[in-house]
Amino acid sequence: MTTPSQPVIGILGGSGLYQIDGLTDVSWRKVSSPFGEPSDELCFGTLEGQRVVFLPRHGRGHRISPSELNSRANIDALKRSGVTDILSLSAVGSLREDLPPGTFVVVDQFIDRTFARQKSFFGTGCVAHVSMARPVCTRLGDAVMAAAEGTDIPIHRGGTYLVMEGPQFSTHAESELYRSWKCDVIGMTNMPEAKLAREAEICYATVAMVTDFDCWHPGHDAVTVEQVISVLLANAGKARALVKRVVPLLARHQGPCTHGCQTCLDTALITAPEA
Ligand code: ADE
Repeated sequence: MTTPSQPVIGILGGSGLYQIDGLTDVSWRKVSSPFGEPSDELCFGTLEGQRVVFLPRHGRGHRISPSELNSRANIDALKRSGVTDILSLSAVGSLREDLPPGTFVVVDQFIDRTFARQKSFFGTGCVAHVSMARPVCTRLGDAVMAAAEGTDIPIHRGGTYLVMEGPQFSTHAESELYRSWKCDVIGMTNMPEAKLAREAEICYATVAMVTDFDCWHPGHDAVTVEQVISVLLANAGKARALVKRVVPLLARHQGPCTHGCQTCLDTALITAPEA
């Protein structure tokens, strides 16, 4: 039986990542949530002896657009399935010349520019303000970097992910604005996911997989889905290899996260307990 000190790894797969290599004892199961429908059934399995729960963020067949994602249901379903650590894999555009398509970026910051999404589990009777100062679990980021060592995956540690509402790509002026803000990559999915994982006291890290240069780059006029998809398929193969290597590293960790992700509500609840 799994005790709370044993990790259960959740994988949130973005565009192009709809399965996990090497997973055994696989079963897809519906997990109900009071927050609505998760993107799909959850895929339960074992990788190198470690329990893994996989959820394709956009659903199998890529049916759900970024603004339509029910991230509260997704995170809640993972929490109810015992998940302690979430590795989020997401396609992004690059806002930097030195992060070309094919690069993986283990981001450490986010700027949330989304505006049409449910962003909290709290409210209506129970108020909490969790800290998002450091939104990414350092331990998970360390494990991803260690897993990439010795592979041919071009990987970069650190960076700011600008999360836009979409579904349209940015205008040139927006792209330049985000570059002037020193953002490194741009995507549509990791917020409010990262905020909700923090509220659920689940460790969270993102591997942002660059598919394009957005539209700021003089040599790359506009982003097209065709271009995104061709890089995305190559990235997905590398992502599956990375997941296979990182899960056993995360499995070695026992006990609560020393980064504080799993105890953040201790200092966040503001509503007085009932007498
Ligand atoms: N996902 C992949 N490329 C992107 C881009 N340029 N902007 C927003 N989301 C993306």
